[in-house]
Amino acid sequence: MKTSENTILITGGGSGIGRELAVRLQAQGNIVIVTGRRLEALQTTVAGQDNMHAFALDVDDPQAITAFAKQIIKQFPQINVLINNAGIMRYDDLSTQADLSDAQAQITTNLLGTIRVTNAFVDHLKAQSDAIIVSVSSGLAFVPRADAAVYSATKAAVHVYTQCLRQQLAGLVEVIELVPPAVQTELTPGQSEREGYQPLHAFIGEVMDLLNEQPTPSEIVVERARLQRLAEREGRFAQVFDRINANAAQQRR
Ligand SMILES: NC(=O)c1ccc[n+]([C@@H]2O[C@H](COP(=O)([O-])OP(=O)(O)OC[C@H]3O[C@@H](n4cnc5c(N)ncnc54)[C@H](OP(=O)(O)O)[C@@H]3O)[C@@H](O)[C@H]2O)c1
Repeated sequence: MKTSENTILITGGGSGIGRELAVRLQAQGNIVIVTGRRLEALQTTVAGQDNMHAFALDVDDPQAITAFAKQIIKQFPQINVLINNAGIMRYDDLSTQADLSDAQAQITTNLLGTIRVTNAFVDHLKAQSDAIIVSVSSGLAFVPRADAAVYSATKAAVHVYTQCLRQQLAGLVEVIELVPPAVQTELTPGQSEREGYQPLHAFIGEVMDLLNEQPTPSEIVVERARLQRLAEREGRFAQVFDRINANAAQQRR
């Protein structure tokens, strides 16, 4: 990935990982467009910065995505990088019949949102030089949290989708998967102060170092995410699954 002179669209750029990525990428000499549902949060990300732009977009809304892509490609025809970062996480209890609106919302935002935004930009990106699509999955795609079953399943699906996208776009668009470990953001209430989670700045620092490697690795896996990413490959899945789920149970108590 070129380190500068890209025009980058980030979904979910009004907070957490998306906001920090946006700020760091802009500081490196890129034009950055941030989107999300809360325009006010996006405006805070771009406040006082050159070459940063904020637009409201709900990735749950297919018609809004189509209209947005048309508008943004017209306004920024040089756009060459898409970062699918928007996501939500909910806990679930599968042991009893329940309302499935949270399950549906997570599938819509995390999986369908990634698929729909990618679909809206793929033809444009294919025609650009140095084109990149980044999908944000999770360590939970590789070793799931049982109390976040649907969330983990959406991230496993994002991983598989990203592998297939990489194969289908080989030679046209570079496809990168970003695999965060547990990071201190407000993805779930109170998480930004949760002990044991990686501080956001330290995480983004490692991510930027990996993104700036030439060639950029096809998977951005920071040190803390390696345990989960490699567990199955290294024959330690059961051990890591038990540890993650014991920690999760303690955290929720
Ligand atoms: N933090 C972690 O521990 C961790 C670990 C693994 C993976 N991840 C992934 O990293 C990504 C970023 O999460 P984060 O930790 O930075 O949490 P976050 O601060 O809550 O960021 C999520 C962003 O997604 C946006 N978003 C949610 N639903 C949306 C929708 N329907 N349309 C458009 N934007 C939407 C939110 O903005 P609005 O509310 O304004 O729409 C928000 O800015 C997510 O995909 C998450 O699953 C995080």
